Amino acid sequence: MSQKISLTRYLVEQQRVDGLIPAQLRLLIEVVARACKGISQAVNKGALGGVLGSAESENVQGEMQKKLDIIANEVLIEANEWGGHLAAMASEEMEGIYVVPNRYPQGEYLLLFDPLDGSSNIDVNVSIGTIFSVLKKPEGHPGVTEQDFLQPGHRQVAAGYCIYGPQTTLVLTVGDGVAMFTLDREQGSFVLTQENVQIPEDTKEFAINMSNMRHWDAPVRRYIDECLAGKEGPRGKDFNMRWVASMVADVHRILTRGGIFLYPWDKREPEKPGKLRLMYEANPMGWLVEQAGGAATNGMQRILDVQPQKLHERVSVILGSRNEVERVTGYHKGT
Ligand code: AHG
Ligand code: MN
Ligand code: MN
Repeated sequence: MSQKISLTRYLVEQQRVDGLIPAQLRLLIEVVARACKGISQAVNKGALGGVLGSAESENVQGEMQKKLDIIANEVLIEANEWGGHLAAMASEEMEGIYVVPNRYPQGEYLLLFDPLDGSSNIDVNVSIGTIFSVLKKPEGHPGVTEQDFLQPGHRQVAAGYCIYGPQTTLVLTVGDGVAMFTLDREQGSFVLTQENVQIPEDTKEFAINMSNMRHWDAPVRRYIDECLAGKEGPRGKDFNMRWVASMVADVHRILTRGGIFLYPWDKREPEKPGKLRLMYEANPMGWLVEQAGGAATNGMQRILDVQPQKLHERVSVILGSRNEVERVTGYHKGT
């Protein structure tokens, strides 16, 4: 019988291979995974745990917060602040950075998260998740500021998400491919269920919120029009469409069977580069997708090369099967 590999064992082995991950980073990932187990518990209880519905408050993005947005944020902070592995955290649900309090030792890492992705799906019992990104605190000065977080995505040292769906699955990269771990509730541990995840280069499945079609720019319109034209159109094949409205769920499908995901800039709020947030949505997902052989751009450049100007910066996102992403990005050239 083949032996089950727990997340702990996987990380210990990663640490041994050329010291791929230092001990502090290993601890950090374990702590994030433990927090995700806690969030998964709360999500599973749903109405029985009194966790559904609105919190009647707004976050810094001007979005109404759900109770679970706030619960998940608190679980992540409480789990991570005392271990000595972090200098500071940043979250979709907090305006400024959260510096580890003085009573705890300060570590060398910075953790960013979207504590609860897919908030509109909480109350309707559809898959949601937690997205996280880890950076190293720049050296050479004491303390930590928001400026320390403003590093491009290619500087991430770990990234992943945990999806709370029919199964709870943690998906992780530390720069050595993508691995998936399914939560074994009886054992209380994440078990390795897929290694070396690979996204097929081609696909017949796209994910975009079609209700925004009239607001899109020409390149995105052209791409989707061509997909919709099917066999008789320029692409010569029929496409299928999916839109879960939880980025974690759409990306999870793409990592599993391929596809392309777009949340492009549109004319509704032209001053905003997009809806999704660069530092705790697009960067971690972009890196996972690249590590699985796919691509992620904002139409103009690789997402991971975008230099953030602010913590809650937004970005246009096109990611998934490499050939499709390159095609849409190509349509943007010269526009
Ligand atoms: P969040 O719940 O963290 O605010 O993120 C929601 C995001 C993303 O998960 C999803 O792809 C997108 O918003 C859905 O947006 P629409 O409702 O505009 O389709
Ligand atoms: Mn989100
Ligand atoms: Mn969120």
